[in-house]
Amino acid sequence: MKFSSVHVLSTFTALTLATPIELVARQEVHHLFERQDIQTAINASLPNVTIFATGGTIASQGSSNTQTVGYQVGLGVQQLVDAVPEILNISNIAGYQISNVGSGSINETISLKLSHMIKEELAKEEIAGVVITHGTDTLEETAFFMELSVNSSKPVVCVGAMRPATALSADGPLNLLQAVTLAASPNAMDRGTMITLNDRIGSAFYTTKNNANSLDTFFSTEAGQLGVFINQIPYFYYAPADPIGLVHFDLTDISDLAQVDILYAHQDMDPALFNASAAAGAQGIVFAGVGAGGMSSKASLAAEELFNATGIPIVASHRSADGFVPADDEDFAIVSGFYNPQKARVLLQMALTIGYEYEEIKELFAKSYPMP
Ligand SMILES: *[C@@H]1O[C@H](CO)[C@@H](O)[C@H](O)[C@H]1NC(C)=O
Ligand SMILES: *[C@@H]1O[C@H](CO)[C@@H](O)[C@H](O)[C@H]1NC(C)=O
Ligand SMILES: *[C@@H]1O[C@H](CO)[C@@H](O)[C@H](O)[C@H]1NC(C)=O
Ligand SMILES: *[C@@H]1O[C@H](CO)[C@@H](O)[C@H](O)[C@H]1NC(C)=O
Ligand SMILES: *[C@@H]1O[C@H](CO)[C@@H](O)[C@H](O)[C@H]1NC(C)=O
Ligand SMILES: *[C@@H]1O[C@H](CO)[C@@H](O)[C@H](O)[C@H]1NC(C)=O
Ligand SMILES: *[C@@H]1O[C@H](CO)[C@@H](O)[C@H](O)[C@H]1NC(C)=O
Repeated sequence: MKFSSVHVLSTFTALTLATPIELVARQEVHHLFERQDIQTAINASLPNVTIFATGGTIASQGSSNTQTVGYQVGLGVQQLVDAVPEILNISNIAGYQISNVGSGSINETISLKLSHMIKEELAKEEIAGVVITHGTDTLEETAFFMELSVNSSKPVVCVGAMRPATALSADGPLNLLQAVTLAASPNAMDRGTMITLNDRIGSAFYTTKNNANSLDTFFSTEAGQLGVFINQIPYFYYAPADPIGLVHFDLTDISDLAQVDILYAHQDMDPALFNASAAAGAQGIVFAGVGAGGMSSKASLAAEELFNATGIPIVASHRSADGFVPADDEDFAIVSGFYNPQKARVLLQMALTIGYEYEEIKELFAKSYPMP
């Protein structure tokens, strides 16, 4: 690793803010879904924020303070807050451990449980907002899931970290402090679900992970950020507004989601993937197309045959990080518009679960983009 001396100095200054967590014994696994009071005394004049911890890098430890890959998930919600005692001067905190996994292992049991519990929590008058701690890899999917299913004017803030808690210059502690600050902030009302990391405040609707490794990974290049933290105060650029195309789904009585797979297009894409996916139980398929929703002609033919034979909705998205798949009335595929493959999947799962038919699904996707 090479640093210029200037770089080292500025990194070092930032370091004094957040002391790395000492390696600690893995916390006794607290009963999942059980309410934990994080501090002993409630200060009734402070807002109340509830943290739902799911695991991820923010809850991980390496074997040394320089290890930033290959670390292990294992810290509990209490340990996350213990690293940032300043949080308890901003808010009363209660916590729930929902899971303790890397975010690639977040499944529908966890998403639905989170959605149901958060809805219930936000319905309590004394609760100002909630925070979800989560791995960054699929954080945007959980955030979008909450955006579509929670439907509260109170803030839902999703937060993670790119460096484990034991790393030099770990980003988790300050990210968590900012997430709780945001969840407790009256300015954060009516903005749906937000993602905050690295001082930025983004909308769950458009924010996406852009870099697999660096701290400055979450942003929304086209729709912009909602706001920024300046000296730990959330500052918003916009008045609250819903994204065009936002729909809320009532998942209250839902315990299983429709299976939707994502297929990744590439040169000479194998046509067998579509049938294989359907044979494995997919009720909907999203493909991450080349360019604006394209694939090889043989794959496209196989997808169309599958659609003709089964009526399984097939959604065309894009594998490029940014961009848009335009409407095409001639095509059998439903176009994703601005939704990237992982967000298109969440939307399609919810629509199928609620019982939307093909035409309704097409309209649902079309709500977010301009028609010709
Ligand atoms: C409770 O919170 C208020 C508002 O921040 C603060 O002024 C007060 O000192 C706190 N009380 C205690 C006992 O910490
Ligand atoms: C926080 O919750 C306590 C009860 O646990 C309540 O007395 C207090 O009023 C709440 N704080 C706010 C600002 O609503
Ligand atoms: C919390 O606030 C109290 C009273 O203002 C202060 O004495 C204490 O140092 C603060 N604790 C932290 C961890 O910031
Ligand atoms: C989802 O993951 C949790 C925790 O790892 C597990 O308990 C649950 O059974 C999983 N659900 C499904 C449907 O696989
Ligand atoms: C969402 O909340 C609004 C306002 O409370 C309500 O009118 C609407 O019916 C809710 N939608 C769903 C799907 O629950
Ligand atoms: C896929 O399955 C459909 C029927 O479900 C069949 O008509 C089609 O020939 C199959 N395509 C491929 C490429 O195997
Ligand atoms: C699918 O069905 C449409 C409408 O009936 C037809 O025009 C098209 O040729 C079929 N496509 C394939 C690949 O069989």
